[in-house]
Amino acid sequence: MKRYVGLEGVDGSGKSTVAQACREILETAGERVVLVREPGGTELGEEIRRLLLHSHEMVGWAEAALFAAQRAQLAAEVVRPALDGGAWVLSDRTYYSSLAYQGAARGLGIDKVRALNEACLDGVLPDVVVVLDVDPKVALARQSGIDRIGSAGLEFQREVAAGYRHLARVDTSRVIVVDGSGSPDVIARGIIEEAMR
Ligand code: ADP
Ligand code: TYD
Repeated sequence: MKRYVGLEGVDGSGKSTVAQACREILETAGERVVLVREPGGTELGEEIRRLLLHSHEMVGWAEAALFAAQRAQLAAEVVRPALDGGAWVLSDRTYYSSLAYQGAARGLGIDKVRALNEACLDGVLPDVVVVLDVDPKVALARQSGIDRIGSAGLEFQREVAAGYRHLARVDTSRVIVVDGSGSPDVIARGIIEEAMR
């Protein structure tokens, strides 16, 4: 059973909607679920989120390091205790966002960003990472509030999507790609089935 499930995809691909749908299915089945989102999920993480999304421009490695810092705190403070206590953890984004956005799209290099994050996570790694595959143009049109990174535009989101496709090819033991254009409930049922296999 894979109880630590990460949801990934370009901005507006439906991650939070599908995460909620997964939570409802699991809770109806009597499971305990902890839902988290990145960046955020802890007091420190929410402060770092504000710095990342609504403050000044920053160089790529400052951005990558701040994402990794909020993630270290979330893993130690929330994710590890929840898993140890027998709950499921559904995460709206994981370190695979950093691999796709900072590693691939911003060009820092997937391997270097992976090394930084895996050091920060200290073994708390998702069992399965689900990439919701939605055309970046469709995903962008679905969105309402655009933040600093989300405002980087369609070309950037295309680079992110290419990053995810690359990760799905090289990381077959963890990453699966799911068609994100169906109904959230159908997508969620497919994800839970996969996680329970
Ligand atoms: P993300 O968390 O990936 O940014 P959201 O879950 O916030 O995406 O969804 C972005 C928008 O798209 C919302 O308005 C949501 O209602 C809509 N949406 C989400 N999932 C779907 C879906 N499977 N089909 C159509 N619209 C969707
Ligand atoms: P958020 O509003 O949480 O996501 P979404 O747009 O998917 O609803 O904003 C998070 C933004 O930060 C989003 O544009 C993706 C980006 N991001 C990274 O660049 N690297 C990361 O490691 C994470 C977690 C997010």
